[in-house]
Amino acid sequence: MNLKYQAAQAALKYLCSGMVIGLGSGSTTAIFIQLLAERLRVGVLRDIQGVSTSESTTALAQSLGIPLTTLDEHCTLDVHVDGADEVDSDLNLIKGLGRALLREKIVAIHAKQFIVIVDETKVVRRLGSRVPLPVEIVPFATLAQVRWLNTLGCRAELWLEPDGSPAVTDNGNYLARCWFPEGLEDAYHLAQVLSERPGIVEHGLFLDMAHRVIVSGHEGILEMERK
Ligand code: 5RP
Repeated sequence: MNLKYQAAQAALKYLCSGMVIGLGSGSTTAIFIQLLAERLRVGVLRDIQGVSTSESTTALAQSLGIPLTTLDEHCTLDVHVDGADEVDSDLNLIKGLGRALLREKIVAIHAKQFIVIVDETKVVRRLGSRVPLPVEIVPFATLAQVRWLNTLGCRAELWLEPDGSPAVTDNGNYLARCWFPEGLEDAYHLAQVLSERPGIVEHGLFLDMAHRVIVSGHEGILEMERK
């Protein structure tokens, strides 16, 4: 069976009727949302409301009839379920290659339980060793930001669409991608440096945020829990 499907399915046991659920973005979460819609359709789950993290998740949830609400109406979510691009053994993540990192982070910090669903290809020893770190930047002095990012020990580029125009997030911002040749030596320090820089809106490091990571692999499901 498809590994993303298995990870998504394993998250269903953490849901109960009446919950307000953060709905992440990306292909693994899309499977989770479809499975959730199916549970609602057959009545195994009832009275669920979702909080979406992207325009594409909103469109998917609406097309499947999942009722949506907002953080303005519910300041605490029972659970937030999302995918990730990389996960390490401390449950730290790189997210955002689906371009939704800002809303994903905003929703995640409001959840009592943040559950991450990934297949085993996403598990790394060191963050940044497999994928670039996405960084959301304001569309002003963009190249100056990219030049500055390049001083941080990475090769940074503005994320471009195939036609050469900048990739634009749901928030109207641009994205840079930062490749670290040896992975991230100190993710906490980098997160701090990025968060202090005017013009950097958010970055894809999700540190000390996930409560549980569900990893699907060819040997079965492994669950890692924050101690
Ligand atoms: C979107 C994300 C996604 O969760 C991440 O890119 C993983 O996506 P997929 O499940 O398609 O591999 O962070 O911004």
